[in-house]
Amino acid sequence: MSMSNKKFETQAVRTQIERTEFKEHSNPLYLTSSFVFEDAEDMRASFAEEIDRNIYSRFTNPNTTEFVDKICQMEGAESGYAFATGMAAVFSTFAALLNAGDHIVSSRSVFGSTHTLFTKFLPKWNIETSYFKVNEMERIESLIQPNTKILYAESPTNPAVDILDLEVLGKIAKKHNLILIIDNCFATPYLQNPIAFGADLVIHSATKLIDGQGRVLGGVTVGKADLIREIYLFSRNTGPALSPFNAWVLSKSLETLAVRVDRHCENALKVAEFLESHSQVQLVKYPFLKSHAQYDIAKKQMKQGGNIVAFEIKGGVAAGRDFLNRLKLLSLSANLGDTRSIATHPASTTHSKLSEADRLEAGISDGLVRISVGLEHVDDIISDLNQALG
Ligand SMILES: Cc1ncc(COP(=O)(O)O)c(C=O)c1O
Repeated sequence: MSMSNKKFETQAVRTQIERTEFKEHSNPLYLTSSFVFEDAEDMRASFAEEIDRNIYSRFTNPNTTEFVDKICQMEGAESGYAFATGMAAVFSTFAALLNAGDHIVSSRSVFGSTHTLFTKFLPKWNIETSYFKVNEMERIESLIQPNTKILYAESPTNPAVDILDLEVLGKIAKKHNLILIIDNCFATPYLQNPIAFGADLVIHSATKLIDGQGRVLGGVTVGKADLIREIYLFSRNTGPALSPFNAWVLSKSLETLAVRVDRHCENALKVAEFLESHSQVQLVKYPFLKSHAQYDIAKKQMKQGGNIVAFEIKGGVAAGRDFLNRLKLLSLSANLGDTRSIATHPASTTHSKLSEADRLEAGISDGLVRISVGLEHVDDIISDLNQALG
């Protein structure tokens, strides 16, 4: 049955690869590294891509195909490829599409490892990156050079929860013939579809809300078929593929994405409103709070605000650390988008190696705390935050 005319939730539950002779209801796990051929001619034709079939699980596997098919439907993408981690997706996408000497224009507020890729590793191939701050979109065009190939951004950003106008980015990319790549990790395909605003490719760390239960790592890139073809050829030969087991887990997770994310967002909005009313809190950043500087843009491009709330605690680094030490229910952990609520203090942990000036450029003040709001009862989450704030 075609799923193309069905709603998001129905597609997420009902998109399934073909049933086997056993007529299983739920999709089986295909733990196999390779697939067999009928004869020498079948093998030759398969390798020549005259036949569309599974050859080797570094290329494709039924479980990864099902996972990618679902993400493509959710994002409105033509094609995709699944990776072992979100960072494998980010790196392989750049490595497949860029040549030595190409140039990237990127938002300064990108995930730490993506920043490291831009500053430490891509320069080894003479690929340089120019940055714009989230509040200076008008500077983007002045950063574009003749060798610029990619325009890159996240929205909402990690960890400061800033919002970039995807429609503006889409128009700039089109005007200058750039490939627009959006890391859509914080929004999930349920809350935001960058392709509808002009993105050519969308990347997800599936480790976050897509798994949503803190179990497996995964990543995916979806978008225009000709670009995905380049990414596929690069990946099929270099080996960053998602494992069939993790693909099976992630495909199952997608069946409940909508209901889980609805509750995450409901809880996060209540947490954000509570924090905004607290005397120890200076500033709360949540896309669907009216006080968020880019509230109107968030409303335009997102269905709900997501599950990440950032706030500034009065008293800087010391106050941030004390707050974390007093938490009893919330976990101190590097992950986000889990069923369990998580608190992190970027200035003393993930971003402690950056200079204060660099941290501030990325929107990370000394007292900034990031909460990944989970699926515990919201009263219990708020009660823990309240006692930890003192
Ligand atoms: C926005 C964003 N992109 C990419 C990644 C990398 O994903 P992974 O940890 O699955 O490699 C993360 C991880 O936190 C992230 O938050």
